[in-house]
Amino acid sequence: MRKFFILSFLIYNFFHLEITFGSSNVLKSPPNVPSPITRKTSKVVNIELNVQEKIGELIEGVQYSYWTFNGTVPGPMIRVRVGDTVKIKLNNPQGGRFPVALDIHGANIPLGGASISLTPPGKSATFSFKATRAGLFFYQSSAPPVAMQVANGLFGMIFVSPKNGLPAVDKEFYLVRSEFYTSGNFGNQGIQSFNMSNALAGKADYVVFNGSALSLVDKNSLKIKKGEKLRLFIGNIGPSLPATFRISGGYFTNALIPSKNSKYENKTLLFTPPGGTHVVDLSFDHIGDYRLLDQSILNSFNKGSLATIEVTGEMDKSKIIANKVDGLMQLEGSSPIFFISNKNRASTFQNSQSLPDRIARGRSVYMENCMACHQKDGRGIKGVFPPLAASDFLNKNKKRAISIVKNGIEGEIVVNGIAYNSTMAALKLSNEEIADVLTFLYNSWGNSKKTVRPAEVKSIISNY
Ligand code: HEC
Repeated sequence: MRKFFILSFLIYNFFHLEITFGSSNVLKSPPNVPSPITRKTSKVVNIELNVQEKIGELIEGVQYSYWTFNGTVPGPMIRVRVGDTVKIKLNNPQGGRFPVALDIHGANIPLGGASISLTPPGKSATFSFKATRAGLFFYQSSAPPVAMQVANGLFGMIFVSPKNGLPAVDKEFYLVRSEFYTSGNFGNQGIQSFNMSNALAGKADYVVFNGSALSLVDKNSLKIKKGEKLRLFIGNIGPSLPATFRISGGYFTNALIPSKNSKYENKTLLFTPPGGTHVVDLSFDHIGDYRLLDQSILNSFNKGSLATIEVTGEMDKSKIIANKVDGLMQLEGSSPIFFISNKNRASTFQNSQSLPDRIARGRSVYMENCMACHQKDGRGIKGVFPPLAASDFLNKNKKRAISIVKNGIEGEIVVNGIAYNSTMAALKLSNEEIADVLTFLYNSWGNSKKTVRPAEVKSIISNY
């Protein structure tokens, strides 16, 4: 139990800690950004970046050991002004496992700084460069193994503001999309490690904003008021795949106009190759939730790159709103009935018969196979997919529940007083997987704490 609390504490801090360094306000943790620069003269800006390994969650129940700058993925956003001298101190801690080096995309020096910042564990490096071009740029580690360092989280952004700044807006946020390649399939519970074969094949298991599929939804949604102007500093670090950003219900207008050719207004799609960035302004006519996604839809709904922009305020005459609609803002997971085979489940599938292990395995089966319809919290979608949380139907008859998961079900059923008349196809699961997923369901979300054994699943052949 204690371990669990410590882990949750780390995870909580990883995604919620806001780091401000002194009063300088030059660095800010995602999704927050440093305030706009108002000064009219150049100066030397001191930045300190600390390499830290941190355990966080890719999605509920899935832990990953991230490699970070200053404890967050992406690292803090740095804000300077054209003409400033940027002096960076890079610290690699004693006991770290690898050297790091900084390649700053917008720095006009050899290797973007990587050759003068190569820093082994236990050492620090200090270097400086003059910010000569306005723009939003990535910084990334560029020491071997480069791809693995970037895939594990060693990146962040620097915004070099034009001399006269940008037009003022009400809220600014910072978002980076990146891929994670893991030992287990999407949703597979427990600590995951980096998977080089998947990385080489470009088969991302997770595609997320700000390091986690949980980072910018529900209570962590980006919040603005109707009528407010929103600015996003957004980019795709890859490491391999391009992204196409879209806001369902919104338009992007380029806020940073380096030349006439790159000026655009009211675009609905932003094509973004690895390393690509945008500074874009948005405003919304109606209150409600808007979804920021990667229009490569599988990356969003099945791998995690969904963020919510929540616009609050008074309803207008059009009465267009805005109810929170269950199910529309949720992840669907990587159910094999859609596109992967279940046969190669990672070796977390040991034979342990202890209840906690069976529940943990069942949770994995659920996240991979059932979440798409019955939803992450088991509450289903009213009238479409019945709830499995506190389901009177599930709790009443164990044999019937086994048969449903084994053989599928068709026709009218009534669950918690609501009728469903649909079909659930049989899923190609083993008797052990069915026993585990039902044991997980019965021991979660207010259900009746039964257990189901593989032998019981085997014995039920016909429909209930
Ligand atoms: C493609 C969507 C889909 C997937 C995936 C799915 N179900 Fe269902 N499930 C349904 C539908 C639809 C019904 C209601 C069928 C009807 O109306 O006869 C249902 C009904 C049920 C019921 C009985 C009703 C209740 O609420 O108690 C159980 C139990 C159940 N599903 C368990 C599971 C489990 C466990 C998995 C994963 C191994 C799963 N389902 C995967 C769509 C799905």
